[in-house]
Amino acid sequence: PLPPAFEVPLPLPPVLKPVAPGRYEITQRVAEVEILPGIRTPLWTYGGTFPGPTIESRRGRPVTVTHRNELPVPTVVHLHGGRTPADSDGYPTDLVLPRDWADHHPMPDPRAVRTRLTRDYTFPLDQRPALLWYHDHRMDFTAPATWRGLAGLHIVRDDAEEALGLPSGARELPLMIADRAFAADGTLDYPSVDATLRDRPGVRESFLGGVLGDVVLVNGAPWPVHEVDAARYRLRILNASNARHYELEALTDAGRRLPLVQIGADQGLLAAPVTHAALPLGPAERYDVVVDFAGVPVGSRVRLVNRLGSGRTAEVMAFVVARGARDGSRVPAVLSTDLPSWDSPARVREFSFRAGQVNGGHGWLVDGLPFDPARTDVTVPLGDVEVWRLVADVHHPVHLHLAGFRVLSRGGRPPLPHDAGLKDTISLRPGEAAEIITRFDGHRGRYLFHCHNAEHEDMGMMANLEVV
Ligand code: C2O
Ligand code: CU
Repeated sequence: PLPPAFEVPLPLPPVLKPVAPGRYEITQRVAEVEILPGIRTPLWTYGGTFPGPTIESRRGRPVTVTHRNELPVPTVVHLHGGRTPADSDGYPTDLVLPRDWADHHPMPDPRAVRTRLTRDYTFPLDQRPALLWYHDHRMDFTAPATWRGLAGLHIVRDDAEEALGLPSGARELPLMIADRAFAADGTLDYPSVDATLRDRPGVRESFLGGVLGDVVLVNGAPWPVHEVDAARYRLRILNASNARHYELEALTDAGRRLPLVQIGADQGLLAAPVTHAALPLGPAERYDVVVDFAGVPVGSRVRLVNRLGSGRTAEVMAFVVARGARDGSRVPAVLSTDLPSWDSPARVREFSFRAGQVNGGHGWLVDGLPFDPARTDVTVPLGDVEVWRLVADVHHPVHLHLAGFRVLSRGGRPPLPHDAGLKDTISLRPGEAAEIITRFDGHRGRYLFHCHNAEHEDMGMMANLEVV
């Protein structure tokens, strides 16, 4: 039985304590976690919780995270949105093998790096402050592994952002939104062809489009509720769902729509706030939003709803305005002045994201090809500016590792209001072509770009980018 909406308190993921300055340790292990009240659900976790512990970092201060794999399968950790050297970027065949794993299925990848039990990932974090997230990225198995719980937040901050006076402390809330489905015994329900996730990847045929759940979790709790002051809150929203798209709206009990004032995108602050009535949110996208609960009657609720859902997936969470309060926060008219605006691209490339045949079955292709770790799809000289034209058949949230980008156009028109700022994931709509511009700098090596519908990704929709 699913719990009634807006009864479970919103959990805040624990903040991970360093074991030494700049050094963290996370053990990946099976844990039983109470998601549905009174029911234990076995999960694959980072450190025993879902979401995993949040890492709080300062811009330009490198951190090393030692991951220890006590799960029954190989894993790979990727810091989504990180400007990370290639050897710590979590390439899908750079596996951390569990203790007793006999590696009987070597993949055709001459550059794969395998370690047993532990691996150090080093992140320079020399990048704009932003809400990043870390998740599993094992080739062919990313979708079921993240579904089972392998996802956590990583927040990068700096002095300039803190000096803005945005809502902070208890008035800054990370919200990891992820849908899941549960079997009657409380275990997670995922249509894998092989539930051990050891050798045979993939989902049953009818789930080629992606796996949706009927329970909406925020920070791992079903349709939670959170008490707020009648004041501004900074909501740092991540869609960590495998395949579900949302369109968020904040509605008072009286049916009034509270403005969603967007202050940041995937890769940090916008130049200036953008006010939305509703905000579309594709898989892996982040939106940094200020909502002002002043003026909402004390004792009443504001629901965060999903206009794309139906029945219970139309609800996300609720805020109860518990008390009047002073509010010293502000949303400055100028948020940042360091957004890159590139021009004179060295070249323009086009990539299609379409359904097709993979190994004689159905799958998803980038430019007509399924992912192959032994093939380099794109070679870019370090420092070059490029325009990429991305063409979709159905919805594809396309994500680029290493480099944040700006959206130049959608469907031949100017970008949409929510395309503002620096992004690392663009949600392409069915039949749409969009142009993005970026500069490939920071690190050389092998990176990825792919669809972040996690099932599409596992079924081939990923390609290699070599920065040279
Ligand atoms: Cu969120 Cu390639 O990853
Ligand atoms: Cu896709």
